[in-house]
Amino acid sequence: MRKPIIVGNWKMNKLSKDAMDFVKEVDGKLHDAGDFGIAPPYTALWTAQHYAENLIVAAQNVHFEPSGAYTGEVSIEMLQELGIKWVILGHSERRQYYNETDEAINKKVKVCLENGLTPIVCVGETLEEFEADKTEEVVRRQTRDCLANLEGDVNSIVIAYEPVWAIGTGKSATKEIAQDTCALIRDELKNVLSQEAAETIRIQYGGSVKPDNIAEYLAQPDVDGALVGGASLKVDSFLELVNAVK
Ligand code: PGA
Repeated sequence: MRKPIIVGNWKMNKLSKDAMDFVKEVDGKLHDAGDFGIAPPYTALWTAQHYAENLIVAAQNVHFEPSGAYTGEVSIEMLQELGIKWVILGHSERRQYYNETDEAINKKVKVCLENGLTPIVCVGETLEEFEADKTEEVVRRQTRDCLANLEGDVNSIVIAYEPVWAIGTGKSATKEIAQDTCALIRDELKNVLSQEAAETIRIQYGGSVKPDNIAEYLAQPDVDGALVGGASLKVDSFLELVNAVK
């Protein structure tokens, strides 16, 4: 069966020193029933990776070109130099504020797989799309377009279903919505990748996940973990999420 995976997306929070303190506190308190990780900002990646023995340390983005005139961007090789093996791609904040498209995300997924990095690919509908009953259309399209024409270890990919209206709003999706949409995404994985990939790929739910609601998501058959923002920033709350995985 699929091993649950919980990743804390720190967004633009915490300094290197905070990352060091966090990792030192948390790293020895994980367990084997799940995979657990954090995604610090670029500036704290080296420190987090340096102190992490058990925690996955993920970047929050990467550029698809290997080098060049892309001011402010970071390449795969730059992440690899820090020992980073995971990267979040296509987070809705990147899509909304930095105009990231499915096409660009697809290029990023490709270069990650070519270079042995594991992508956590985010999909999810906006409030407007949700209210217009377009969730299925949107997540199927995003899944198809972000994962088109891939080669390499596609089964290692992690998908995060994050309804945009639930991110940072305290308004989490019901467990039924999370389950139904993750099941749709899994169905689309069959079309775009394979039956085996659909059965193997882990799909996280994200959007106002907290210690007091994570168990209900983890209990859903098609939800294999969580991508967590706010509730991943404090050691105590992160460890409560870790201990919700049995
Ligand atoms: P949130 O963020 O848990 O603070 O809603 C989730 C995310 O953006 O990944």
